[in-house]
Amino acid sequence: MADKLIIFDTTLRDGEQSPGASMTKDEKIRIAKQLERMKVDVIEAGFAAASPGDFESIKAIASIIKDSTICSLSRANDHDIARAAEALQAAERKRIHTFIATSPLHMEKKLRMTPDQVLEQAIQAVRYARNFTDDIEFSPEDGSRSDMDFLCRVLEAVIKEGATTINFADTVGYAVPELYGNMLKSLRERIPNSDKVVWSVHCHNDLGMAVANSLAGVMIGGARQIECTINGLGERAGNTALEEIVMAVRTRKDYFDLQLGIDISQIVPASKLVSQITGFAVQPNKAVVGANAFAHASGIHQDGILKARDTYEIMRAEDVGWSANKLVLGKLSGRNAFKQRLEELGIALESETEVNAAFARFKELADRKSDIFDEDILALVSDEEHAHNNDAFHYVSLSQRSETGELPYAKVVFTSDGKEVTCEGNGNGPVDAIVNAIDSKVQSGAELLLFSVNAITTGTQSQGEVTMRLSRAGRIVNGVGADPDIVVASAKAYLSALNKLQSKTEKLNPQI
Ligand code: KIV
Ligand code: ZN
Repeated sequence: MADKLIIFDTTLRDGEQSPGASMTKDEKIRIAKQLERMKVDVIEAGFAAASPGDFESIKAIASIIKDSTICSLSRANDHDIARAAEALQAAERKRIHTFIATSPLHMEKKLRMTPDQVLEQAIQAVRYARNFTDDIEFSPEDGSRSDMDFLCRVLEAVIKEGATTINFADTVGYAVPELYGNMLKSLRERIPNSDKVVWSVHCHNDLGMAVANSLAGVMIGGARQIECTINGLGERAGNTALEEIVMAVRTRKDYFDLQLGIDISQIVPASKLVSQITGFAVQPNKAVVGANAFAHASGIHQDGILKARDTYEIMRAEDVGWSANKLVLGKLSGRNAFKQRLEELGIALESETEVNAAFARFKELADRKSDIFDEDILALVSDEEHAHNNDAFHYVSLSQRSETGELPYAKVVFTSDGKEVTCEGNGNGPVDAIVNAIDSKVQSGAELLLFSVNAITTGTQSQGEVTMRLSRAGRIVNGVGADPDIVVASAKAYLSALNKLQSKTEKLNPQI
């Protein structure tokens, strides 16, 4: 019988460390439900001690999710571990993931601790975590740049103390597949009690090798858990992409010969959900989940596909959940059909009032756009959720004028703490004009780091989804807005980003 490969998703923790990707509790719950639907084995729901928001999100996810193990990260100290345990209390299956840096550079320069002190702290942390659960993961941070003799000492000691998973972290994406796999192999061979634990890989993508390193960790090193994120989300160049790992192991079962519990039909819906919530667009040529991943443009390929599909296709788009542009609802669809589609998409609005509000927005959209797709519904619900939290600013309306040879002009109406505000502005283009108009009242002092527009579906009728990334005083946030009119979508995205900058509940800095 083939070994099981455990899929540990850290989109909600390491993925969230991407600048601007921080998510609200409701958004995290939606993603956690999708991960459960996809049958992910372990969901790292956050880092309980990082902020009250993180704590509350983990607590909510722990009480809602039944089929996946819920995990919280914690530094190797009693306070963090106790917070993690408290947040995880309601979980049917819980894991505490504790870590401490083991590389000479991190120990000396960051922790200012001697190796013996780090060893002692690692032992104490695992011992303390055992008071709360038997499922304990230990990560030597910057493991791939650590001294092998020292790693052996630390890992043998924490296994003796009761750690059940050892996660060999390539924190800065420095590893090279063969070397990384061999390091792990050597650790397993040298540590006398290595057979008592599951070995795990956790790779960052700084050199574009996170997936290759993870798979080498499995094949050469004998790891049986991979830590990954949807769309490879994560700080800097991101983490190992879940969809690539799962499809590689499945498509090349002849080579990997491992069992996976994942429902692959949920991969594309998960990718779209994460991209839409975080505002991190998926590049078109991204493996498995990119818009072009299954598009054959050249004549030779098209001819081959028509004759025999497997001439140029190693996976089937529909198997991973591409049901592109499936027409789901239209102008004449009723409230029940809408509610049923929400349920099918795994969206549980809390009250009938919320369903009514979302349905009213759906009707508005259906008046402007005849065909409504799943992606439109996801965007609409997201807008609705934004409208429900305690945001300062809400978009009301705008008018805009641009003509060749004239400076574009915009008039925007929005509410600020419930009061209607009207503002006007000019700019280099229509989007610049609306940003200047809003800023003439809000004076945000923020710098715009990124502006991107993506069509949610295909065709010129598609809604545009705009992401605006703002930075102020070292804090980076992403705002997302969707509308068939991309200038309106831009105004919504800008106001959404300003709301996040203002929010006191958002984490100041999700980095560890
Ligand atoms: O990259 C890293 O080292 C981490 C650890 C906390 C596992 O994310
Ligand atoms: Zn990491």
